[in-house]
Amino acid sequence: MSLQEILAVVAPGSPEEGLARQVDFDRLPQHVAVIMDGNGRWAAQRHLPRVEGHRAGIESVRDVVEGSARLGIKVLTLYAFSVENWKRPPSEVSTLMALLKRYLRLELNTLLGNNIRFNVIGGRDELAPDIRGELKMAEEKTAGNGGMLFNIALNYGGRAEIVEAARRAMAAGVTPDALDEQRFSEFLYTSGQPDPDLLIRTSGEMRVSNFLLWQIAYAEIWVTDTLWPDFRKRHLLDAILAYQKRDRRYGGINQPAAAGR
Ligand code: FPP
Repeated sequence: MSLQEILAVVAPGSPEEGLARQVDFDRLPQHVAVIMDGNGRWAAQRHLPRVEGHRAGIESVRDVVEGSARLGIKVLTLYAFSVENWKRPPSEVSTLMALLKRYLRLELNTLLGNNIRFNVIGGRDELAPDIRGELKMAEEKTAGNGGMLFNIALNYGGRAEIVEAARRAMAAGVTPDALDEQRFSEFLYTSGQPDPDLLIRTSGEMRVSNFLLWQIAYAEIWVTDTLWPDFRKRHLLDAILAYQKRDRRYGGINQPAAAGR
């Protein structure tokens, strides 16, 4: 995956092409996590029901999944449904679940064709059996793919994940002396994955909303006013270029060898 791969899906002479050519492919964020927000506002601006915003958001999901895989991002995590989202009207919840199911049915071949591995993070037990079955099938069918890992956060909460990890560590018999950050992270949903380098949030809100609380400790945060249904590859490229201009210090000082990391 490379410049050529991304250029194959952007129009020649387009702003996307100009942006793609500026990307330093040796310094891509390994893991990009996205808080997809603003679907309701997108719909309200058009005097449409909220669910139309979610429906339109699916096209953004398609575009960003394809763009990330072609760029060579190793892990993409999308926040599709939080533990708090159950408080929404039942009709909105069921539409979101139906959209997810439809997305998986329609996009499975695209995921397979792009060598993408699909993975769910979050509590599955509360999901309806048909949704669980659909998710499991997509995970199983893509399990052999060695390209980008596409995590979808569903019924996900960062605090709940940490509590669950603590429980699992105790159940596995990890003693207090043996527990350190590395060992603990092996009990998170994202065990074995690199932490997000870049966290994108759409629609201008300056919050992390209980998303990957442990994993985003050192993530660079990029917030755009663009509403999720309007988000496309060019915005992803904007975020990556902004990330590549940041000076990541991980709490240390800026030394030449570490500059730009
Ligand atoms: C936030 O917008 C968005 C969500 C809660 C759901 C995101 C889900 C999708 C885009 C569709 C399903 C996903 C996949 C991966 C197939 P909001 O409703 O909170 O917007 P608002 O803040 O403007 O009201």
